[in-house]
Amino acid sequence: MISQDKIEEVKQSNDIVDIIGERLTLKKAGRNFKGLCPFHGEKTPSFIVSPDKQIYHCFGCGAGGNVFSFIQNLDKLNFIESVKFLAQRAHIVIEEAKPGSVSDIKDKLKHISAETLKFFVENLAKNETAKTYLKERGITEEIITEFKLGYSPDSYHALLDHLKAKFTDTELFVKAGVCQFGDHGQYDTFRNRIMFPILNIFGEVIAFGGRVMDSSLPKYINSKETDIYIKGRNLYNLNNARKHVEEALIITEGYMDTIAMSAAGFKNTAASLGTSLTEEQAGLIKRYSQKVYMMYDMDEAGMNASIRAGEMLIKEGLEVFIVTYPEAKDPDDFIKKNGVEKMRDRISAAVQFVEFKIDHMLEKGDAKDPYFKEKIIKETLDILEKTGNLVAKADGIRRLAQKLSVPEDIISGYLKKDFRKSTKIDSIMSELDFLKQKGVLSAERLLLKTALKAFSREDEGVILRKMAAKRENFEISYAEFKNDIYAGILNKIEQYQKEAVSNILERIQMDYVENEEASKLIAGLIVEDSGRDLKDGETYEEKDAAQQEKKRSEEGKKAQREEESDDLLQIIEDCFGKLKDAKIKLMIDLFQEKIVEAEKNNDVEKLEAYIKEKQKWQKMLKQKEDQKA
Ligand code: UTP
Ligand code: MN
Repeated sequence: MISQDKIEEVKQSNDIVDIIGERLTLKKAGRNFKGLCPFHGEKTPSFIVSPDKQIYHCFGCGAGGNVFSFIQNLDKLNFIESVKFLAQRAHIVIEEAKPGSVSDIKDKLKHISAETLKFFVENLAKNETAKTYLKERGITEEIITEFKLGYSPDSYHALLDHLKAKFTDTELFVKAGVCQFGDHGQYDTFRNRIMFPILNIFGEVIAFGGRVMDSSLPKYINSKETDIYIKGRNLYNLNNARKHVEEALIITEGYMDTIAMSAAGFKNTAASLGTSLTEEQAGLIKRYSQKVYMMYDMDEAGMNASIRAGEMLIKEGLEVFIVTYPEAKDPDDFIKKNGVEKMRDRISAAVQFVEFKIDHMLEKGDAKDPYFKEKIIKETLDILEKTGNLVAKADGIRRLAQKLSVPEDIISGYLKKDFRKSTKIDSIMSELDFLKQKGVLSAERLLLKTALKAFSREDEGVILRKMAAKRENFEISYAEFKNDIYAGILNKIEQYQKEAVSNILERIQMDYVENEEASKLIAGLIVEDSGRDLKDGETYEEKDAAQQEKKRSEEGKKAQREEESDDLLQIIEDCFGKLKDAKIKLMIDLFQEKIVEAEKNNDVEKLEAYIKEKQKWQKMLKQKEDQKA
């Protein structure tokens, strides 16, 4: 756990303009800076960075947030990782590991692993046999450096001796997995092998794989699981591949495939190391890419593993394609035989997962047998029902219909009831609901926007106090809001205002620092007017100059403030009014429903109570309508 204070300190020490400015060109635009948005392709800048508020926002694609979310999105890190990254940059020590604590041991294991890697790399440079082996497999000096390949000497104690000279606690060598205990004490785990270091996404060495240089067995020896290495939670080369995800990640089975793909220019390749992709690996992949190309070996084991992996990834909601490449055993082999361009063609020709699965099943039976067709339909729908993506479901049904020559509605008949409902009735219902709720949602949103606007004004306190009073007058609670995020933020603002917290906006931004959706929303609402209110052809500089001009005269300033203040209070009143109207109508509907139910059940007592309630709300409605008239 990183304390809130630390997070705050890290945020204070990393100016958002510096951080973003290091990654893209920013130009001054009034009080803000602007540049080309790194999150979507654009030719004219609509990406704004505010040094005052320490936020960014793109008017083009809606991206936005604070310095942490920027790093998270651009460098594909999670929140904690982004804090650690920015802490390191500002030379802030995040956690002092207590001696003997888990993180202390982890640090030590990482040191030992790093030293081991250094040793292997140095030994490769000294060993001609190993160098020749790699050369013959087409692995250049460049690739050796990029993937930090090494060689473990043909000795039971070379590494052990090396490590002993550097570290006192020899038991940790075994804990790190690079040495083992035997009858005669400790000895090196990897001997006379080409060494492939496995790095975590920060680029730290956490494990190794070692390959023999002939056909002896086992072909590979891998590190056992340790305190710093859990096999199913890592992918080989993901630390590099994640930086090259433009459209998709490519997943292969092994070290050599990933290296060959990367050397061929497909740097967005990682390996699951072994054939069974775990659920955790699927989750990890999802963090870096929405689309995946599976490129396992072409043998039966590889095919079956592709299908299992594909199902796992589909469940995570990812878009999955299977790359097939006949006449080669694995991607490395295919590139050697056919070249890079042919590999590019294979990727372009990749088959959408559901189609691949249907074809794969069709090969195993008689495509004319109705029972066999039914089996395929059921199995495919089983997978489709797991994805939350309605379009993908519809698409899969269409493919099934085509491949099996069965009408789509027959196939839909096999869908589980709740699924059928969720695709058809629910989506129509939610659309209707949505239209009805639109007015309510926009009132809720406008309230939040108004509250946020208050923070840039001297009369912040007055506006927020009046807002709380209005809410109470209208007898509306934030818990009734349709949108939980708007409600959550507004509720916090009201609480902080009541507790007389200083720098409420700062505090709110910190509270939501881990919540991407909320951070984005807050940043978006804060800068909304400053961008959208530009007149035709007006630039940010011009708008800013015009505002400065207006504010120059003291008189004008005061008048403007009063005018705006009235505006804001009017907006608040209107919004709560709208919400109240909607609430009254909802309550009338609700009690009407209950009345019908009570009548059905002959429950006179309840019936009377509900009628009274309904009348109460109807009276309120009438009063409001009379007021308006
Ligand atoms: P492969 O046998 O396909 O090896 O195993 P490879 O990566 O293509 O290597 P080359 O081309 O023969 O040199 C695929 C992956 O399965 C794991 C390794 O991660 C390997 O990269 N594996 C394989 C093992 O862990 N142990 C083994 O003995 C074999
Ligand atoms: Mn292989």
